[in-house]
Amino acid sequence: MQHQAIGIFDSGIGGTSIWKEISIALPHENTIYLADSKNAPYGKRSKDEIIALSIKNTEKLLELNCKLVVVACNTATTNAIKVLRSSYDVPFIGIEPAIKPAAIQTKTKKVGVLATKGTLSSELFAKTSDLHANNIEVIEVVGTGLVECIEEGKIDSQEMHALLTSYITPMIKKDIDYLVLGCTHYPYLIPNIKKILPDHVTLIDSGEAVARQTKAVLTTNNLLNKNSETGTYTFYTNNEVEVLKNILKNNSTSLHIHYLAF
Ligand code: DGL
Repeated sequence: MQHQAIGIFDSGIGGTSIWKEISIALPHENTIYLADSKNAPYGKRSKDEIIALSIKNTEKLLELNCKLVVVACNTATTNAIKVLRSSYDVPFIGIEPAIKPAAIQTKTKKVGVLATKGTLSSELFAKTSDLHANNIEVIEVVGTGLVECIEEGKIDSQEMHALLTSYITPMIKKDIDYLVLGCTHYPYLIPNIKKILPDHVTLIDSGEAVARQTKAVLTTNNLLNKNSETGTYTFYTNNEVEVLKNILKNNSTSLHIHYLAF
């Protein structure tokens, strides 16, 4: 079982930001990534739809013989991970907006969270927010259109800049000193966001924490791949292969990127 791959899925190409962290933290692990770009964005969908899509992706990863599933999507985690964990035997790792470290470190007592509507309206997000941020002001902003722009390969467009400015400027005016990126697509926007954000505002995303947690869970379950070679990295998209290839183009390792109907 140790040689089996880690399965990773997202509504699209954004979760590759999590794959990257996993490949750094666990260089000997094989990974299989599913980009459900055909059904992106999940953020606008109902909870039931997000659960159904998460089940579909999980079943495909299990069919591909994965030993553990990383839900590399805040929207899918916050809406579906409970159902996934109660339906399948493999371990699941999820990702949620990293409110806790921001709440602990903020001096202005004001923290911004940029995420999808599906994440911000979920019960799990409300619970996490209540638990860790009850003495601070959390300014929640829905990043409408950001995922679509990234999926269309328009990261450096005027449209993207205008959207980001309209979401981030009001948070700056409210004196946030931490901005939590609550969507796995958004790490790809960090250079764009830094052009808008003043230097004293710290950006937080959860990619590294997810990779650390994946390593811890593999270790506890005796599932770490003991191979000394670098893992193999397979990516499947049910939409345009070029978009996925493009977002992964700066990786030096050899990647296998294919179309798959799922
Ligand atoms: N990457 C997903 C997330 O982390 C994007 C969700 C969407 O497709 O709207 O939430």
